[in-house]
Amino acid sequence: MEKILVIGSGLMGSGIALVSAKAGFDVTVVERSQADLHQGMERMKNTLTSLIQKETWTKGEKELIWDRIQGSTMLESGKDAHLVIEAVPEKLSFKQAVFRELDQVINKEAILASNTSSLSIAAIGGVTERPDKVVGMHFFSPVPVMKLLELVYSLSTSDETLQKVKLIGEKMGKTTIIAKDFPGFTVNRVLVPMMNEAVYLVMEGNEPEQIDRGLELGANHPLGPLRLADYVGLDVLLFTLESLYEGFNDSKYRPCPLLRRMVEAGRFGKKTGQGFYSYK
Ligand SMILES: NC(=O)c1ccc[n+]([C@@H]2O[C@H](COP(=O)([O-])OP(=O)(O)OC[C@H]3O[C@@H](n4cnc5c(N)ncnc54)[C@H](O)[C@@H]3O)[C@@H](O)[C@H]2O)c1
Repeated sequence: MEKILVIGSGLMGSGIALVSAKAGFDVTVVERSQADLHQGMERMKNTLTSLIQKETWTKGEKELIWDRIQGSTMLESGKDAHLVIEAVPEKLSFKQAVFRELDQVINKEAILASNTSSLSIAAIGGVTERPDKVVGMHFFSPVPVMKLLELVYSLSTSDETLQKVKLIGEKMGKTTIIAKDFPGFTVNRVLVPMMNEAVYLVMEGNEPEQIDRGLELGANHPLGPLRLADYVGLDVLLFTLESLYEGFNDSKYRPCPLLRRMVEAGRFGKKTGQGFYSYK
């Protein structure tokens, strides 16, 4: 395994490209337009500079990392990749379209991984002629900092594929856990309903600061669930809850009505300046 193709250079794709290059892989990043690619390359450059300023990574690594990353708007430029990691927006039809094309263009031996946080790996792999080589590689944000990589195997994913991505993840410095292909996998399955429950507490009249302090000091969480929800994005939280609700058809995952109202009001959390807390 030497060459990794990353599809999408947004928040996650740019981080995945950087950790892949740091681990010594040759990386090609594919975007849908030159403008998006330019934005993605700038994002990577800024992240790299900030990681070095914070001494998370060393100055000496900078040039090496940067030399290993190339950008392109053509999937064909990664056709000899050993592993593809897709990080396009969380919509099944988008991902299936990308995987259909990857299956045609990328060499038949390559593993095709998705960074989806909630979609079915079976449904993504099902549009390809190599579902045994399709796997979930769920990184956490910010990718260069977070230690966990959740590997998700569908009914069709082979053991060989799972073992190969486990080794690659470890080479990237991540600790891996293995999850079955059910909505929310493991981390979000537990975390997301907890954040939803905290929103119910707010709807019932409790103060966000009180709830967060309770979980920080009473359960030793580094960050309270409402602050975390603001950072994740309330729109993303709502979407993930809807996937769980739909996937299990179980009312315990029903999004709290207050969460829905906040998203409707454009209060997405930190990224819009207002969520359970104000960031202005
Ligand atoms: N944001 C998070 O905290 C987080 C955490 C874990 C997993 N994820 C998952 O990672 C994936 C990406 O999320 P993100 O937050 O990086 O999104 P994002 O919107 O920041 O980035 C998506 C990128 O994909 C590009 N893109 C769209 N269609 C494309 C195509 N056909 N070919 C190439 N590039 C294309 C877009 O231009 C954009 O740059 C989603 O599946 C999301 O659920 C996100």
